[in-house]
Amino acid sequence: MKKIFILNASRRRKGNTTKLISSVTEKLKDFDIEIAHPQDFNIKTCLGCHKCFIKAGCVQRDDLPLLEEKILSSDLLILASPVYLHYMTGELKVILDKLSWWAHTLRLQGKPVVLLSTCSTNGQDTVIKPLGEIMNYMGEMSLQRLMHQWCLTKSIILSGLIAFQKKYHQELLKVS
Ligand SMILES: Cc1cc2nc3c(=O)[nH]c(=O)nc-3n(C[C@H](O)[C@H](O)[C@H](O)COP(=O)(O)O)c2cc1C
Repeated sequence: MKKIFILNASRRRKGNTTKLISSVTEKLKDFDIEIAHPQDFNIKTCLGCHKCFIKAGCVQRDDLPLLEEKILSSDLLILASPVYLHYMTGELKVILDKLSWWAHTLRLQGKPVVLLSTCSTNGQDTVIKPLGEIMNYMGEMSLQRLMHQWCLTKSIILSGLIAFQKKYHQELLKVS
């Protein structure tokens, strides 16, 4: 069974980002889906020591290897973040900082990645755009960027999700 790993960078387990994720995953059948939040892991902030670029791994002892394994062993990675002050959440940025060396080793080469973001009114581009660039530097095969503004009408949201579903399934079939 294909594995989908979803990292929901919101601290709110029942928040808007969870609702957006659910609206996508409830339509996906026959996938092994795991959803995690940054707070499920003990991840220390980057020391800035640069050693990861030489050793291909962080020198600190924390749960990062566990998270890395979940990301790398997935058939599809979904990264979701609410907009916090026109950017991704700090916790997601901490994780990505610690994986900076992946951009030097194309560690996500060929990995299908879907990016999701929620916001109140604005700033969604300022999450999806940099996150997309970071994934791209790491070698991902981008599938879809779904930006979600809660002020959009329901019909627009639904049509966007249906288009997302169709594309998602087509793209995943192509790479499987
Ligand atoms: C600290 C903080 C900063 C935020 N900054 C923005 C922002 O810059 N633009 C925006 O539209 N919404 C902003 N929001 C609103 C959230 O992005 C929005 O409510 C989001 O859907 C929350 O997702 P969640 O319920 O999964 O946590 C912010 C919320 C918080 C808590």
